Amino acid sequence: MVRFGAPRKRGVPGLVRKSLCPHDRVTQAIPTDDRTSAILPRGHHCAMSRLSLLVDLASLLAREVDFDALLRTACERLAAALEADRATIWLVDAESGDLFARVALLPELPSLRQPISRGIAGYVARTGELVRLDDARSDDRFDPSVDRATGYTTKTVLVAPIREDEGAPVRGVVQVLNKEGGPFDLEDERYLAALATQLGRALRMTTLRGGGTPGVVLRGPFNRIVGRSDALRRVYERVTLAAQTDATVLLRGETGTGKGLFARAIHVNSARQSRPFITVDCTTLPAQLVESELFGHERGAFTGADRRVPGKVELADGGTLFLDELGELPLEAQGKLLRFLQDRAFERVGGRTTLQADVRIVCATNKDLERAVRKGTFREDLYYRVRVVEIAIPPLRDRGADEIEDLARHFAESYASRYARPEPELTPEAISALRAHAFPGNVRELEHWIESAVALAPDGRIVPDLFPQPARVRDSGPPSSGEATGAQPGVKIPLGLSLEEAERRYIEATLKACDGNKSEAAKRLGVGRNSIGRWLK
Ligand SMILES: Nc1ncnc2c1ncn2[C@@H]1O[C@H](COP(=O)(O)OP(=O)(O)OP(=O)(O)O)[C@@H](O)[C@H]1O
Ligand SMILES: [Mg+2]
Repeated sequence: MVRFGAPRKRGVPGLVRKSLCPHDRVTQAIPTDDRTSAILPRGHHCAMSRLSLLVDLASLLAREVDFDALLRTACERLAAALEADRATIWLVDAESGDLFARVALLPELPSLRQPISRGIAGYVARTGELVRLDDARSDDRFDPSVDRATGYTTKTVLVAPIREDEGAPVRGVVQVLNKEGGPFDLEDERYLAALATQLGRALRMTTLRGGGTPGVVLRGPFNRIVGRSDALRRVYERVTLAAQTDATVLLRGETGTGKGLFARAIHVNSARQSRPFITVDCTTLPAQLVESELFGHERGAFTGADRRVPGKVELADGGTLFLDELGELPLEAQGKLLRFLQDRAFERVGGRTTLQADVRIVCATNKDLERAVRKGTFREDLYYRVRVVEIAIPPLRDRGADEIEDLARHFAESYASRYARPEPELTPEAISALRAHAFPGNVRELEHWIESAVALAPDGRIVPDLFPQPARVRDSGPPSSGEATGAQPGVKIPLGLSLEEAERRYIEATLKACDGNKSEAAKRLGVGRNSIGRWLK
């Protein structure tokens, strides 16, 4: 079995280091104040780190960090705070009943799991009782096979259940081993119990949510990003690798697939995580303002410029600049951006000094950039410059119905807590309606459906009647072919879209109305079947 918490002597927890290890990167998010440790005597330092750990954990859990790294950092900090040799956070998997020591979504990592029936951690998870032992090996709940397998010698043990409040379902346990210079005392016990409660509450902010039953459900390897389909696995891999470098990233995907979310995930898992993440929305920028928005302007640069204003590039210094909807950037501005991407140098509008900014660039687009290059609306040199690491976010329809269900439950829980509604219950009819619906607006559309259903269900019971019309038509059982052609869903195309995007939505809606039958869709659109095929590619 693998213990999750590392021996604390391996590194200095909280110290800012430059390293490729993802765990170290998260460690940087919660730096320990080294000056404090130099001035205060040992006992004070411990008390400080005990306090700050509670505060920092909550703020970390609110970001899209790699869950694994997050728990590991928490363990390192906890071991230091309690002067223990190691700390481990075990969570209870609500689906299998096992204990797992990291977000082991991948079946190839079974060793990170253990049955809840075994060991002291299992005992605490089953009973919800805190356990403190001065001599673990003499207790019959102790499982010696673990020590035998790892070559570790467990002496003193302190294990607390993780739950939101006394009497609430157990989500997991937090375990610390082998305190330096003597057994754990009552004060350690109280501290760990308090920390475990905080952790239990903080889990509510994550995607690792549990309902009224013990345990948590694993919904993805990154905190706050739901999805465990094969289609997303490649995205996670690439996001993780990209986060280790400063390479420019281009996120591509249909509207509402989560490009903004993954852009932030790259930032918060990178070494730049404690620096700013600045978004530039290229759709809302009129051509004349782009330059000043990006690079800022000097006083008197143009009428109305009564003071110097820094641009987004400057604000993002040391951090990440996210260029959202890059495909919409006016041609005039593309050249300016290219120059910045080439040598990270720029001038403020109306200024003569050349300035430098150290920014990492992440871009997103739902546009067919290759086509834009062919049409001459997007610069080819810029195109090559931004697609260093390309990450394609798959549309919801390629992720499978299980993912729709996971997302629906996640949104139902988070909106119920936001709107102070009771624990939501998605009825079987609602679930099958959701699973059968093709969401052209992807995750965002699904999110809106659930948000409004939660708002409209004061008793927390979510039935298909609460969803927009087309879903109700097919609210139970799998859709039969031809059914969709009978019930025309129609398509709403708001003004303000690019012609290309409007076209795309119209084709998609037609195809959906034909239940994916390309020949039929082509006939209705008055184009050849190949055109549809080409478009789908
Ligand atoms: N995998 C996911 N897990 C949880 N929430 C998600 C996921 N994907 C998307 N969302 C949520 O769906 C909404 C849309 O996501 P986001 O804005 O990142 O999409 P987008 O691809 O940038 O869309 P657009 O192209 O329209 O800008 C957001 O509220 C986001 O939090
Ligand atoms: Mg977006």
